[in-house]
Amino acid sequence: MRAISQAQPNIALVKYWGKRDVASNLPASGSLSLTLSDLWTRMTVEFGARPGVDTLTVNGAPAPNMLPRVSRCLDDIGGRGRPAALVASECNFPIAAGLASSASAFAALAVAASAALGLERDRLSLAQSAGRASGSAARSLYRGIVELGVNGDAIDLRSLAAPADWPLIVTVAVTAASAKPLSSGDAMNASRRTSPFYEAWIAGQAADLARAREAVAARDLAALAAVAEPNCLKMHSVMWTSRPPIVYWNAATLSCLETVRALQRDGRAVFFTIDAGPQVKAVSLPQEAAAVADALRATPGVIDIMQTGLGEGARILERG
Ligand code: PMV
Repeated sequence: MRAISQAQPNIALVKYWGKRDVASNLPASGSLSLTLSDLWTRMTVEFGARPGVDTLTVNGAPAPNMLPRVSRCLDDIGGRGRPAALVASECNFPIAAGLASSASAFAALAVAASAALGLERDRLSLAQSAGRASGSAARSLYRGIVELGVNGDAIDLRSLAAPADWPLIVTVAVTAASAKPLSSGDAMNASRRTSPFYEAWIAGQAADLARAREAVAARDLAALAAVAEPNCLKMHSVMWTSRPPIVYWNAATLSCLETVRALQRDGRAVFFTIDAGPQVKAVSLPQEAAAVADALRATPGVIDIMQTGLGEGARILERG
């Protein structure tokens, strides 16, 4: 009745921002992402003998605020009559700061809970459970470059390239380590209700996905940059034009964008993306990784740099 899993966060290049259905957490459009290798969440789930109250610790400290979402995800996997669980999450990077910690957490939780209950569920069905808890978490079940599609009333996923097929490097420039002021779920619902750009954003997603898919198939970083950077800026424009405005950036975020532009002017194969937080992620070919890290480290306001390749989907580390 116990299992330990590991999942890594993923960084979207064609973003998910908006739900078609809030109750089932169904995304309004598809998305495309990179599953990382060196940032991780390790999740231990141990079920007792009887139904009852679950407990959750995150990095050793009780985390009652996150417990309701965790319990709902456990109900999704094990059913309402399931036994109570002890859940312990360990994470080697900042939580809730726009580094996709909910993606790795819920991917790891779905995999560990299902194994601890001895259920034989396939990867897609675990991804669908993880996705009901956090839309982006579904993508962390799959390795390398991942596309999430919306097929009728369900999501569908596939890996477009394994890590070794196109070994991209993601350099994360951390510009603030504190938790974000507004959860991405609440923020995207506000965007849907209030941004005048929301409909146009969703309407453009299929074309961006098709271009990104082609760029991945051709292993063409410049073509991927040409769709990923505008897609990121479109998402943030939707956020900024929401009422009240949702602005996750800080001054250092913008300085990092200038750094990436300067690297591009020097002919470096690199582009940026930014999620629901102030951190900047630079995606590059391996030969540019050292120059990208040096330039971002020297950028005013950057407090830390993390570098990682692409990695595997969520998996079991230990059972029993
Ligand atoms: O999965 P959520 O609810 O944490 O939303 C993720 C939203 C973004 O990270 C901003 C975009 C994405 O596709 O991951």
